[in-house]
Amino acid sequence: MKNTISRRKFIQVNSIAGVSLAASPVPFFTNGMPSKKITVAVMGIRGRGNALAKVFANQPDCEVAYLCEVDERYYEKTLKELAPFQKKKPKLEKDIRKVLADKSLDAIVIAAPDHWHAPAAIMACQAGKHVYVEKPCSHNPREGELLVQAARKYNKVVQMGNQRRSWPNVRACIKDLHAGIIGNVYYATAWYTNTRESIGYGKTTTAPDYLDFDLWQGPAPRRPYQDNLHPYNWHWFWHWGTGEALNNGTHFVDLMRWGMQVDYPKRVVSMGGRYHYQDDWQTPDTQTINIEFEANKSMSWESRSCNSLPKHGFTAGIVFHGDGGSVLLGSGNAYTVYDNDRQPKIIKEVTAESKTADQPNQRNTLGPGAWFDAPHANNFLQAIREGETLRSEIEGGHKSTLLCQLGNIAYRTGRSLNIDQRNGHIIGDMEAMKLWTREYEPGWEIVV
Ligand SMILES: NC(=O)c1ccc[n+]([C@@H]2O[C@H](COP(=O)([O-])OP(=O)(O)OC[C@H]3O[C@@H](n4cnc5c(N)ncnc54)[C@H](O)[C@@H]3O)[C@@H](O)[C@H]2O)c1
Repeated sequence: MKNTISRRKFIQVNSIAGVSLAASPVPFFTNGMPSKKITVAVMGIRGRGNALAKVFANQPDCEVAYLCEVDERYYEKTLKELAPFQKKKPKLEKDIRKVLADKSLDAIVIAAPDHWHAPAAIMACQAGKHVYVEKPCSHNPREGELLVQAARKYNKVVQMGNQRRSWPNVRACIKDLHAGIIGNVYYATAWYTNTRESIGYGKTTTAPDYLDFDLWQGPAPRRPYQDNLHPYNWHWFWHWGTGEALNNGTHFVDLMRWGMQVDYPKRVVSMGGRYHYQDDWQTPDTQTINIEFEANKSMSWESRSCNSLPKHGFTAGIVFHGDGGSVLLGSGNAYTVYDNDRQPKIIKEVTAESKTADQPNQRNTLGPGAWFDAPHANNFLQAIREGETLRSEIEGGHKSTLLCQLGNIAYRTGRSLNIDQRNGHIIGDMEAMKLWTREYEPGWEIVV
């Protein structure tokens, strides 16, 4: 049974925010045929994929046709939790290539680890499927470029899963910024804090029977299994993950880029390290990234994975600064506008209509609530069905992901990077450009 409340809520919140749902003149058809029901496969169902499977199953005229997962321990929970949303039991399959071979399937939702995102998304476009790919859309910049190319070449709807782009009050905030509520927005700063534990030192061992580690690695060159990698901790290993800068940074750097109306930067620097614990964790647990654009604009990102002191009352958020004041956009669906007096006064306050998972000073341990994922998923489905404009089309998703990737490249090389503002490429630094792409397991190279 579908839950129609979420749809009503969706329509209601969009009218609150005054968001237009402009349809493009040419509707997309599913697999060449006009079709109302959209079938999706969800790839990776332990954490994010479990939530997204329920969100998609809960959308009108959408069915989760496959759960694709390489660790068999996770099927039972997701199947059980999906049951209230759809009568038909999804098929279970380990190998995404077999899922993509099903001609009746319309789209895939990718929530596997980051090294799988762009390769799976590109394979899906080639197989004629539309793609909802979790953030970050790629493991490295070259993959992002190839994914944009694939979306164009195969004419597929490809949305990145930075769901804040669909939150009504975030959209209202950006609209206010673009209308000049604080004048020229020349600087923005964003942060994320957490108290992540040490991952210790893993043992190299054979992979457990319940896990197909070969498929888990997929496009990444083979490494031996180690017991502190899966699930989740792969985030902190460069071979598979992308660190906090892309794990949480992609959400907030994307909103800064949107609010400031900037694209490719001219200079990127970054500092940080694995400061809090000594263990196998390779990416920085503490990091700042500073990104400069032309026209006297810059932004900064701060992540503290192991130190939780909130800023401005929020565990994560953004402040936009302009010549007429500042805007505080916390990690929820609310924002506050200040003037530029010596003692700044609130000139506008927009509160969330619904409780978010991360109200001021309450830690978000469960991830974004399903209510906040629904409008983004719905937008993706409506883009497939009726040509609705995507809120995070892959080209913009790539540009935002790239800013964070450039931050990590600056961090890893220890250098200030000069960037070609026409395409985001690094200028005059061969060593840094080595991190523009990666090596692939033979047979898994990406070709668009
Ligand atoms: N948009 C958001 O707010 C949000 C929130 C959380 C996570 N994410 C993103 O979702 C992704 C997954 O994160 P997570 O926390 O769920 O990680 P996780 O490690 O808990 O889950 C990943 C799952 O993918 C499975 N997997 C690995 N290779 C696979 C393959 N080839 N085929 C099918 N399944 C495969 C793993 O077995 C695991 O169950 C990450 O890229 C993360 O950045 C986004």
